[in-house]
Amino acid sequence: MNDLQERENWTSKLGFILAAAGSAVGLGNIWRFPYVVGTNGGAAFLLVYLVAIILIGYPVIIAEMSLGRNSQKNPVGAFKDLAPDTSWWLVGALGVFTGFVILSYYSVVAGWSMAYIVQAANGFTSDMEFANLFAGHITSVGEPLLWHAVFMGITVGIISAGVVKGIQKTVKILMPILFILLLVLVFRSVSLEGAEEGLAFYLAPDFGDLSWQSFNDAIAQAFFTLSLGMGAMITYGSYLSEDENISDSAGYVLGLDTLVAVLSGFAIFPAVFALGLSPDAGPGLTFITLPAVFAEMPLGTFFGFLFFLLLTIAAVTSAISLLEVVVAYIVDEHEWERKKAAQVVGIIIFLVGVPPLLGYSALSDFEFLGMDLLDTYDWFANTIFLPLGGLLTAVFAGHIWGARNTAEEANKAEGTLSVGNLFGILIKYVVPIAIGAIMIVGIWQTFAG
Ligand code: TRP
Repeated sequence: MNDLQERENWTSKLGFILAAAGSAVGLGNIWRFPYVVGTNGGAAFLLVYLVAIILIGYPVIIAEMSLGRNSQKNPVGAFKDLAPDTSWWLVGALGVFTGFVILSYYSVVAGWSMAYIVQAANGFTSDMEFANLFAGHITSVGEPLLWHAVFMGITVGIISAGVVKGIQKTVKILMPILFILLLVLVFRSVSLEGAEEGLAFYLAPDFGDLSWQSFNDAIAQAFFTLSLGMGAMITYGSYLSEDENISDSAGYVLGLDTLVAVLSGFAIFPAVFALGLSPDAGPGLTFITLPAVFAEMPLGTFFGFLFFLLLTIAAVTSAISLLEVVVAYIVDEHEWERKKAAQVVGIIIFLVGVPPLLGYSALSDFEFLGMDLLDTYDWFANTIFLPLGGLLTAVFAGHIWGARNTAEEANKAEGTLSVGNLFGILIKYVVPIAIGAIMIVGIWQTFAG
């Protein structure tokens, strides 16, 4: 621990909840969730996803927050503190490494979103070829590089300002704006003529749509969207005071994140169906299908602008949590000054993000199992690093530090919710087995498919 720099604490319960919800709510909810639902057939997948959030997401988010609050440390320090003289700190180190990888390409995608704010403001018109427009943007170099740099610059600026003056202040301003923008977009979408078909797709389950891959996708999505498996919630939990009940706070974060994901579906599917487009476009849903929707819809330019603004805001409040993990580690363990750590790490992450950015132009010859560089980074993060980190964190909390200690930490302060025996069973057995199974299926499917 660094004696020179006093460890900051969130100044209110709301500050912590909004910061953690800000981390959770991101590109994962607005860009990824709808296309994953879209490619998995809609409503039936939504149900599987909700079960995964409750049975797997809730125990793991509690475990991470509890490890962080008890140790008051970054992920590496937390494992060192709770299991001294063992190798468990390597799980924290894997998390810090994963933070580098995810933020590097996350910032590239966030950069696309920023470019599309400008694009939307100039107007989407029905004579545009949206697939070409998007391809044209990502295969160019200068503009994506510029936005990637701007996005990393914003992230570094917020983290440099600290936990309270940087992170907490930012989320208190941006999260309410995000909710309002989202509600406006939902209202626009469901009030379009022909919205019913999209609502049916989203809400009327047909279990014949499910495959093994759906379970896999649901659990992977639950991890990514809740920011689990790399120590982000350990880090945020480490700034939480003893007076807060973690079972409650984690419940709020989970609820807010799920609400935003579900609302994003309401903002997107009715509009997509109303205009006779298909919901299964995959990653291009946000950048290709939606602009086509905005081009046709009344006041589409305005709503398109709002949408990409919303997407960018969500990305900022998530990116800061990824950078904070790495910065907290360097500040705690290597005693660097926060600002310097944020700047140096920010520049390195920017550089790590350049190859996936060039994967559509200069480095387009690169191919790993048929994937471009950005998909390759994403594949390693979501198929290997996050599940592995989550699995080991669950084993650690359940068996090494112990489910009893974890639950005690979570319930420490008075609250409405409290966790007990069921939590123990989930974190000790259900979570590790479920994650182990999806990792095996995920890896097998990639190589077999
Ligand atoms: N949860 C964020 C999203 O849905 C992304 C994110 C932020 C994240 N921090 C993370 C994902 C830590 C995994 C781990 O966009």
